[in-house]
Amino acid sequence: IVAVAGSTGSLGKNISKALLQPPYVSSFSEIRLLARSPTSDKAKELESLFAGAPARVVYFNTEDEKSVDEALKGVDIVVNALTHADDSVVDGVIRNKVKVYIPSEFGVDHKAYVTDVNVWVAKKAHVQKAVEQGGGNLKVVSIYVGLFLETGFGPWLGYDTTNNVYTAVGSSDAIITYTSLDDISNSVARLALLSADPTTAATVPAHVRISGSGVSVKQVQELVEKKSGKKITVKVVPLDEWKEGLKSTDVLKQILLAAGEGWLNYSKVNSNELVNPGESLWKWKTVEEFVEAGGISA
Ligand SMILES: NC(=O)c1ccc[n+]([C@@H]2O[C@H](COP(=O)([O-])OP(=O)(O)OC[C@H]3O[C@@H](n4cnc5c(N)ncnc54)[C@H](OP(=O)(O)O)[C@@H]3O)[C@@H](O)[C@H]2O)c1
Repeated sequence: IVAVAGSTGSLGKNISKALLQPPYVSSFSEIRLLARSPTSDKAKELESLFAGAPARVVYFNTEDEKSVDEALKGVDIVVNALTHADDSVVDGVIRNKVKVYIPSEFGVDHKAYVTDVNVWVAKKAHVQKAVEQGGGNLKVVSIYVGLFLETGFGPWLGYDTTNNVYTAVGSSDAIITYTSLDDISNSVARLALLSADPTTAATVPAHVRISGSGVSVKQVQELVEKKSGKKITVKVVPLDEWKEGLKSTDVLKQILLAAGEGWLNYSKVNSNELVNPGESLWKWKTVEEFVEAGGISA
């Protein structure tokens, strides 16, 4: 039995969809989609995707311990796609003797990154708690994907697509990994199955990097200029200047700093071959294809 916490969220919905479809759907005796409001439109949308799959939407609110226990009863694999690090999920995972836990990471690999950014500090502590409390009985797999391809190119992350000015921190040549929601969801499904199967569990590391597509700001500039015929300006802000007055709570600016410092480049060291050997299971979506399809306006 697999359960998805946050199944009505942006990523959770996509992961749920992947699990409900071939080739994954037949591997589970039950797919439990956890929702705060099981009768909401978002939950009904998920139900409309069941198509005969052994799935159900179940009430789950981390502020209601009883609901957490009822939702996680008998579950083998928990995929957490909540917005924030919520330790009630770890408590529920431990109480209900879940075997595989995929925490809500899905961003920067902050494992070795010394930072006081509140979101990453909380995520790190959450994973540590799961590992410590789970002892040898719980397999915890943290998945880092860089930036979501679909939401990684907007003014919030330095791409001013109205004025066609892109901001690069440190260097416009720093490679940044972007992974599409579909590729993340397929990777999650594969890693969940590999981790739950005793014959393959040992092949799955505790920290997994996935790299859909790696590009620099300069390469994005070239791709969008070619597609749109318009001139794009790239502004490079030196790292020291960017760090001045930067707050630990300013997550988006901290993401750009991490990118400039190389913490978002997973193009060389990653587990792509483990989840999708030789691209035999699906084709990774590239930034080039995204631009070609009009994903970045100019
Ligand atoms: N790398 C990137 O570029 C990137 C971008 C975005 C997100 N992320 C990461 O991806 C993960 C998922 O983010 P997201 O944007 O998909 O989240 P989201 O859209 O905000 O969805 C959050 C989900 O959590 C549920 N939820 C919130 N509080 C809850 C509670 N107390 N009890 C039960 N359910 C609760 C929500 O339910 P309702 O539907 O009821 O509200 C929703 O299903 C996060 O770890 C985030 O940091 C990464």
